[in-house]
Amino acid sequence: MTPSQRITIVTGANRGLGLGVARDLARRGDRVILTARSQDKADGAAETLRGEGLEVVPRALDVASDESVAAFFRWLDDEHGGRVDVLVNNAGMMQEKGGPAGSQASSGVVLEHLDNNALSAYRMLEGALPRMNRHGYGRVVNVSSGMGGLTEMGGGHPAYRLSKAAMNALTRIFHDAASGDVKVNSVCPGWVKTDMGGPSAHRELAQGVASITWAANLGADGPSGGFFRDGKALAW
Ligand SMILES: NC(=O)c1ccc[n+]([C@@H]2O[C@H](COP(=O)([O-])OP(=O)(O)OC[C@H]3O[C@@H](n4cnc5c(N)ncnc54)[C@H](OP(=O)(O)O)[C@@H]3O)[C@@H](O)[C@H]2O)c1
Repeated sequence: MTPSQRITIVTGANRGLGLGVARDLARRGDRVILTARSQDKADGAAETLRGEGLEVVPRALDVASDESVAAFFRWLDDEHGGRVDVLVNNAGMMQEKGGPAGSQASSGVVLEHLDNNALSAYRMLEGALPRMNRHGYGRVVNVSSGMGGLTEMGGGHPAYRLSKAAMNALTRIFHDAASGDVKVNSVCPGWVKTDMGGPSAHRELAQGVASITWAANLGADGPSGGFFRDGKALAW
């Protein structure tokens, strides 16, 4: 079944791809819960979208914090009867130097990336998937990266690569736990011009956003448990 107005959560939606995804899904008619690390950041992004004629629900959510995620789901239960139809695990960081694998990231930096980029999605899925299964509908998009694919794994940015490979594993694990019309996929947006991607990136924001929203808008006959860019399967 397709709910008439979906309850859609986007993490890290105050800028970059997350804000673009929130905008697109709000335009589609979803009730978007635009989340950001702080309420101020969420409010600021919601104000930007309001200026474009789009209403979203701004909410603080630090995906690196167990307490923040738990508080978020308590609020969701109170305000929205615990329903979540779409979860876009977009929040992410890349704060390390390049160079050969293992040579430039301390174990602390690796742990920080695993916590912020992979455990974050784990926390959110632990909350969202049982609620989706109960409801019989769900679309989860784990915003991953080709840099997390094992088949073409190269050197450089070891902390980021490890975190996105772990996120891809989460896609398989939670796909297995999904029931009914609940789909869990990983998506690579490509190299996109954002604060993270930088100005040399060869894709515009809209292209990266479309790669992500494709998986959020899959029909009942769409795939689950896969890794995609622009709707095309990628090697894990
Ligand atoms: N751009 C690319 O080329 C590219 C390529 C492949 C994959 N990706 C992935 O796409 C996603 C979005 O990237 P982007 O390019 O839009 O990056 P960005 O412009 O740097 O935005 C990252 C967003 O994640 C948020 N965030 C990070 N940690 C958070 C936390 N603990 N709690 C809540 N929010 C948090 C940031 O919030 P603050 O403003 O508070 O820091 C920011 O809103 C990331 O997962 C990234 O790995 C990007």
